Amino acid sequence: MTTKPRVLLDPALPGFLREPLSAVYETLPRPCSESDQPCVRAMVLPGSAGVSEAELDAHPALEIIAMFAVGYDGIPLDACRARGIRVTNTPDVLTEDVADTALALTLMTSRELAAADKFVRKGRWLNEAFPLTRSVNGKRVGIVGLGRIGKAIAHRLEACGMRIAYHGRHAQPDVSFEYFDSLTEMAKASDFLVAACPGGAETRHLINAAVLDALGPEGTLINISRGSVVDETALVEAIHSQTLGGAGLDVFEDEPRVPEALIESDRVVLLPHVGSATQETRGEMARLCLENLAAHFSGEPLKTPVC
Ligand code: 8YV
Repeated sequence: MTTKPRVLLDPALPGFLREPLSAVYETLPRPCSESDQPCVRAMVLPGSAGVSEAELDAHPALEIIAMFAVGYDGIPLDACRARGIRVTNTPDVLTEDVADTALALTLMTSRELAAADKFVRKGRWLNEAFPLTRSVNGKRVGIVGLGRIGKAIAHRLEACGMRIAYHGRHAQPDVSFEYFDSLTEMAKASDFLVAACPGGAETRHLINAAVLDALGPEGTLINISRGSVVDETALVEAIHSQTLGGAGLDVFEDEPRVPEALIESDRVVLLPHVGSATQETRGEMARLCLENLAAHFSGEPLKTPVC
């Protein structure tokens, strides 16, 4: 009879995480059969996964949810706490790559680099010049959520000569950037609005029609956080009616589905949620996820606990 802990693996997890997990634990695909549910002691999930309270109840032996992600907005933390279920995530290791993605989207939208690439490939350069674009230097950027990732983005955009402001729940005394307690006021004062806050109920549709309207026809929205932070219907409408200048998006409300109106627009740059998707960072995320599980099952303190 096996003594290995039973661990439920989400089907979206990559092989380089599944393989070392399967070497140490008895792994089962999520969802598992009803008869296996009472034996499951851990779940390993990607950032996109959502867990309902009913799913927690169906796994009465569940001790830990180890996220392969920094975000855990799909996990009902209070319900986990009430059941004594620990939750871990993978902070820090992905900060620099996600911030690089925000920088790339800022440059891709302002300098229209994706369109410029297509222009060369289609042979159009032989007959005409690519239209002039917009400089980022000297432009004002408002960062929504100045946490670890928000600060790494600020650092990069400041190096590009941009003027940084931020919005969050509180002003941070040790931060010299201008603080706005009103997101709409910050959007009004910004050329670029960068969403870098966590997802979840508290930030759902924080960037709504009024905020997009305040950002205005010369403004650009960048989102590397969660699709849920932006009211996507309002975004589609703002892009369509040209009340918003453009958008650079790595995340969407219903991934991997992207609204047709955004796909058709040449004023948006679309990425398939690749903020942390480098070999180095995903490798570090996998390592941290494995270490959290190992610590849990050997009774040691968790490396990066959420609760
Ligand atoms: C990944 C993410 O999409 O860390 C997060 O919260 O959104 C990303 O790094 C993901 O979790 C990898 O599966």
